[in-house]
Amino acid sequence: MPKILTLNGPNLNLLGTREPDQYGSDTLEIINKRLEEIAISHKCEFEHHQTNSEACLVELIHKAQYDTNFIIINPAALTHTSVALRDALLGVDIPFIEVHLSNIHSRENFRKNSFLSDVAMGVITGFGSQSYDMAMENACIFLKTNR
Ligand code: DQA
Repeated sequence: MPKILTLNGPNLNLLGTREPDQYGSDTLEIINKRLEEIAISHKCEFEHHQTNSEACLVELIHKAQYDTNFIIINPAALTHTSVALRDALLGVDIPFIEVHLSNIHSRENFRKNSFLSDVAMGVITGFGSQSYDMAMENACIFLKTNR
């Protein structure tokens, strides 16, 4: 069974109560439950992690090279700062989709730059928690057609 890994970066553990006007009211637990259902319906395996640490994210990406076929990542604030995450994703050469709940292009200028977008398979930004569902559907379809 192809395996899809979802990675969530700093402060996304606070989803549900964190700036609900910006990020909505779904918790990460609710989102992950939905993602698991989508993955199962497409006969894909699903693993997810959230960490506030850049180093942990890099380690999780390295580990993924042994058993993961696709990554869905919301790097959160690290989107706009982390060359290390970019290099880790390039290093393991696993296709990935970058996801954001908010539309990073309609917010502060510093959020408009992403260190990942140009090396991602695609970017889904601005659809609230549905951004994750869209990414999961696309990842499953990609894995089905490229198996
Ligand atoms: C975010 C957007 C980032 O700019 C921000 O730092 C986040 C969440 C989003 O999902 O909209 O933490 O990645």
